[in-house]
Amino acid sequence: MTDQTQSRTVGAAPVGARDTETAARAVREMFTSIAPRYDLLNHVLSFNIDRLWWWRTARLFDSILTRPEARVLDLCCGTGDMTFALGKRARSGSARIMGADFSHAMLQRARMKGKGTTLRWIEADALRLPLPDASVDLVTSAFGFRNLADYDAGLREIARVLRPGGEFGILDFGEPKGLLGHAYRVYFKNILPAVGTLISGVRGPYAYLPASVERFPAPEEMLERVRQAGFTQASWTPYTLGIAGLYRGVKAG
Ligand SMILES: C[S@@+](CC[C@H](N)C(=O)[O-])C[C@H]1O[C@@H](n2cnc3c(N)ncnc32)[C@H](O)[C@@H]1O
Repeated sequence: MTDQTQSRTVGAAPVGARDTETAARAVREMFTSIAPRYDLLNHVLSFNIDRLWWWRTARLFDSILTRPEARVLDLCCGTGDMTFALGKRARSGSARIMGADFSHAMLQRARMKGKGTTLRWIEADALRLPLPDASVDLVTSAFGFRNLADYDAGLREIARVLRPGGEFGILDFGEPKGLLGHAYRVYFKNILPAVGTLISGVRGPYAYLPASVERFPAPEEMLERVRQAGFTQASWTPYTLGIAGLYRGVKAG
């Protein structure tokens, strides 16, 4: 889906999607179809580096997470691993950490894994969050934001729920450059979809993954969009030679 007037990518567009509504539905169905094997595949295909990325992201927000009464939302939480990483660093019992996702099957797994914790789970679309304006101190999203049907609308919704001075961190895949980039692309575009399809038994999602990363705006463009959505201190930090990276921003006061 490309906005013809500005030729900017609007958002994710799985095969067959005609507009933002059909794109969102296709994304939800895709994640629902791989939910039973999602965790296993994640760890196998990332060689467990995903755990390091979640931990590294959560640690960066310690100053918010350790605040009493902190309100934290992990968007597109899936089976909850980023949410758990945030929960581990929130040392105050009064902090409220919430994970939100629109796939019931993914969220069900998060709920099961989170039994006995104080984490809360919300079944909701990231573009229409059931949260009041200016009610959250920190919004995170790990490998989820790229799947939104409208990136600018996603950033505006994050800005809406954040308090002035609140922060966001969006962790997602990148496209490493140079020789490593070349080797990585062979893995990401050929080996990963083949193994993913084999283990999950579902063909679409693991071909969609590299296509969606390729389609996602480059860091310079994303940072421009972040600023336009009303954030200051916009930054992007590469993780593991740019295989992943973290966008950050602060809601203008
Ligand atoms: C790749 S998974 C990431 C899950 C988890 N954050 C992680 O790091 O493993 C992407 C998740 O985003 C969710 N998602 C995609 N678009 C969404 C939307 N518009 N609203 C809510 N959740 C969405 C999907 O259902 C899926 O669970």
